[in-house]
Amino acid sequence: MNITTALETRKSIRAYLDKPVPREEIEGILAKALRSPSATNIQPWNIYVVTGEVLEKIKKDNLELFQEGIRPTIEEPELTGPFKERRRELAIDLFNLLGIKREDKEKRKDWTARGHKYFDAPAALILTTSNYAAGGTWSLLGIGALLQSICLAALESELGTCVSEQGVSYHEVLRKYLSIPAEEDIVISIALGYPDPDHPANKLTSKREPIDKVAHWFGFE
Ligand SMILES: Cc1cc2nc3c(=O)[nH]c(=O)nc-3n(C[C@H](O)[C@H](O)[C@H](O)COP(=O)(O)O)c2cc1C
Repeated sequence: MNITTALETRKSIRAYLDKPVPREEIEGILAKALRSPSATNIQPWNIYVVTGEVLEKIKKDNLELFQEGIRPTIEEPELTGPFKERRRELAIDLFNLLGIKREDKEKRKDWTARGHKYFDAPAALILTTSNYAAGGTWSLLGIGALLQSICLAALESELGTCVSEQGVSYHEVLRKYLSIPAEEDIVISIALGYPDPDHPANKLTSKREPIDKVAHWFGFE
């Protein structure tokens, strides 16, 4: 797969086939993705690769906390302006595809619950960073680069991904089952598995602003 195809076809996959992902496939993806850049090569990442019974336990506990109405360890940021509008558009497009009406709070909640169990993916990656305070922005930028590399490399194995904040909502659950030490900060998760081609959520192609709205050009005239 060439780079253009990978960049154009990667999208968030929110429904998966019930088919395990072999460890070797994930090792192959990580071997490539770990070539991602990081400031002064600090390689600020730790990756917890989870499947099977451990993942099932995490999904169950996450779901229980969500159903009990427990707030996430780190609250979502309050979005304003165009960020708020773009998030709203995403939700509208997704719920339209799923046939869930705005006023149907129960179904919307059920959908949100799926995020807490990695959209039923057979595998999940939990990304943490050590010494976050020391690494600061550099750590997060490095993990951002790694995220995209993992999502692109996965395509070559016909695997789908969804980067998910929801998957790291409850730090205590992840620390418990994955023995994540206190000196590591939990940053983000990636759901990983073979995409369910028939699920409506996977038909979504999210919108993007046109180039000229986000790029500012100088010196070309
Ligand atoms: C840092 C980050 C956190 C995300 N968290 C979630 C999430 O919790 N739930 C979800 O359904 N999608 C999540 N996503 C996926 C985004 O919604 C998605 O990338 C965006 O809408 C663009 O769509 P695309 O990935 O299909 O191109 C997350 C993406 C990123 C980069």
